[in-house]
Amino acid sequence: MEVFRVRGGSALNGRTTVSGAKNAALPIFAATLLSEETSILENIPNLSDIRFMAEILRHIGSEVEQIDDTTWEITPAAIEHRAPYELVRKMRASICLLGPLVGRLRKANIPLPGGCVIGQRPIDLHLKALSKLGAKATIRGGNVCIDATDLRGGSIFLGGRQGSTVTGTANALMAAVLAPGFTRIESAACEPEILDLCRMLQGMGARIDGIGSHVLSIEGVDKLSGCRHKVIPDRIEAGTYCIAAAITDGEIYVEGARSEHLGAFADKMDQAGVELTSNGPNCLVARRKSDGLRSLEIITLPYPGFPTDLQAQACALSCISPGLSILTERIYPNRFMHVPEMLRMGANISIEGSSAIVRGDTRLSGAPVMASDLRASAALILAGLAAQGDTWIQRIYHLDRGYDRFDEKLRMLGGDIERLSESELPKSVQQENIS
Ligand code: EPU
Repeated sequence: MEVFRVRGGSALNGRTTVSGAKNAALPIFAATLLSEETSILENIPNLSDIRFMAEILRHIGSEVEQIDDTTWEITPAAIEHRAPYELVRKMRASICLLGPLVGRLRKANIPLPGGCVIGQRPIDLHLKALSKLGAKATIRGGNVCIDATDLRGGSIFLGGRQGSTVTGTANALMAAVLAPGFTRIESAACEPEILDLCRMLQGMGARIDGIGSHVLSIEGVDKLSGCRHKVIPDRIEAGTYCIAAAITDGEIYVEGARSEHLGAFADKMDQAGVELTSNGPNCLVARRKSDGLRSLEIITLPYPGFPTDLQAQACALSCISPGLSILTERIYPNRFMHVPEMLRMGANISIEGSSAIVRGDTRLSGAPVMASDLRASAALILAGLAAQGDTWIQRIYHLDRGYDRFDEKLRMLGGDIERLSESELPKSVQQENIS
């Protein structure tokens, strides 16, 4: 296994380019299954989650070929309705296969993805949506089995306790585009990744109205064609680089950062003393304001609210900002696994219910830490860049799932980060692992 050694103290400066959005690319890969024809997908990030999804599509019967670094060609001429547990269990996003399989084959048999470290991630809303389209779902032997012989349009309300569901909306949409009749999805998620999926489905010939709103109207069609689609840039990756500039007191030109996708984030960065200015249509320049960092108050919410996927990174920033910051999770109330690791670096954070209370102005110090999920990994790297001394980050496979060449991009900006093999961990850290 690999680890990162991050040496803090260097300001990150220069220009970096954001890759395609993971959370747009994954359902879009699944959506190619809706047609027998070839689809060409561009701006696909180089991530292990994408490689898992490609593997699952191959297993289902698609031809999947990577044409170049960011372009993939997928031909799902003859596919089956089952996906294997060994692959599905590695990635929760494989639940996005339900919608396309139901739409095209009228049946699906997918292993349930199982537990997740960031919190409970039920699929009740996905199943409710499909049932409103006439599908019957049963759980057997850990699999969700769907019989959608009588698939037809219907009226779906997708609001849950935490608001809408992103991949649930994707599944409802992907089944509805091939369901005879009209479907109305109320309380649909309106994340930019859902908008991108809608655009891709339109490119395949789907009829969707209300794109970008909480109410989607779909008129089912008999058949869809292949398409060529370019995935949007990753707003979470963009936000992470903005925080990297602020936390190291540098200046980063983030190419591909779309300000229209980052409204709530920019608002909170403004409060936190971080200046984000536009430099052309898709480039944000991030740096500290001249009067320095300040505390911040964040509540994570569905889009257009502050994204949960940037909460851990904002927590790293608030550790070094003066004052008391409060970060409240409304999407995954327990998504604070980065906190105990930041405490090892000298941070002063307490958890009160679903909030992290951060007493800032801390001089973080490097420590051996464990990454527990994708965004926690990024947050620990950011904390390490601001810390004194070396931070050793283990279980970095979480990071490789969702950040395209993060360490390479940080190095290009002047970050002191090395990817090493576990055997290169200092003896003291290896010893700590054993005890
Ligand atoms: N929920 C339910 N029932 C459902 C589905 C969801 O109660 O049937 C709840 C969840 O437990 C959660 C909330 O609704 O509290 C929102 O969950 P949602 O379904 O929107 O999340 P998701 O679609 O599983 C996507 C992203 C996540 C991101 C969330 C929230 C993908 C592949 N994943 O997950 O990304 O955090 O939306 O924005 O799109 C990440 O990239 O690190 C990541 C975890």
